[in-house]
Amino acid sequence: MTALTSIADLPVISNQPLVDTFGRLHDNLRISVTDRCNIRCFYCMPEDNVTYVPREEILSFEEIERFARVAVSLGVTKIRVTGGEPLVRKDLPVLIGKLCAIPGVRDIALTTNGVLLARHAQALYDAGLRRLNVHLDTLDRECFHQITRRDDLDKVLDGIDIAQQIGFGPIKINAVAVKNLVEPEIVPLVQYGRERGIEVRFIEFMPLDSQGLWSRENVLSADEIIETLSREISPLVEIADRDPRAPATEYRFADGIGSVGFIASVTRPFCLNCNRVRLTSDGKLRYCLFAIEETDVRALLRNGAPDAEIAATIRETVHKKWLGHEINSAKFVAPPRPMYAIGG
Ligand code: 5AD
Ligand code: SF4
Repeated sequence: MTALTSIADLPVISNQPLVDTFGRLHDNLRISVTDRCNIRCFYCMPEDNVTYVPREEILSFEEIERFARVAVSLGVTKIRVTGGEPLVRKDLPVLIGKLCAIPGVRDIALTTNGVLLARHAQALYDAGLRRLNVHLDTLDRECFHQITRRDDLDKVLDGIDIAQQIGFGPIKINAVAVKNLVEPEIVPLVQYGRERGIEVRFIEFMPLDSQGLWSRENVLSADEIIETLSREISPLVEIADRDPRAPATEYRFADGIGSVGFIASVTRPFCLNCNRVRLTSDGKLRYCLFAIEETDVRALLRNGAPDAEIAATIRETVHKKWLGHEINSAKFVAPPRPMYAIGG
């Protein structure tokens, strides 16, 4: 047998699933298409002087598509497109169309802040997209401005209305749960969702902001929100038969109207069920939102590496994956890049 001189010599084993050293199957790829954003949520971005990746370092649609095809050949079936704000990337529906056309992709979703949704919803739908997560923390204009430093609430609400009229579904709302700030917003937001058949998902504030504002005391926990919603709307009952690998725990209201989800990364870490890898807009592969190390796949994509080498690199990255983040331990070190640069 000839000796392997580099990972490029490894064959692509397409029927072998992507499993890490802890036995977790990876079938979910999150692709960030840009680190740019048109608003400035304080838990993600600084107000000004944002440092962006230079344009030439951002992967092209062709590079993203190629990477996705290789990942799908390794068993990825679900793709989520994120940012930054993905709709600031020119012609995003073209990329969505390319990703939808990859045989083996069973599920494709987009996370957006909704500001440009009204403008692009039809083209996204026509490209094949059906699932949307719209980031929205509040229905109050003042509070929206305080969080995002922009006055775009009406645009987001318009975007949601139009997406619903076009027929997108399911549409979910992502709200970041920050203590001493969003408490008055949660009941109106959930009622808005219940009226429209939209599930609101509360994401506990994570240490991924660019200004070091995070502290444990600023996290509004899933338990606290469940208590408030149960008291002020209707008791919440955990949905038992949900997918254990989905990050959100879902609850339905006892009155039969709607559900809410919780991504309780801080108070109920779900790393043991993680099935995700992430590609940043500048072509770095990450096995965790909180990973310190990244694997450069852009260089491979641009230097003519064969698919087998890209596949081997994906396997290697998954193989290096740790058991989980350690937000709750003294050892925790926040990743060097904030949320907008990683992709949520
Ligand atoms: N903590 C928790 N969630 C965050 N998001 C952005 N920054 C943070 C943070 N520091 C969420 C937003 C966005 C998603 C991609 O990530 O809700 O929708
Ligand atoms: Fe933009 Fe999303 Fe970050 Fe808000 S959370 S600043 S919408 S990238």
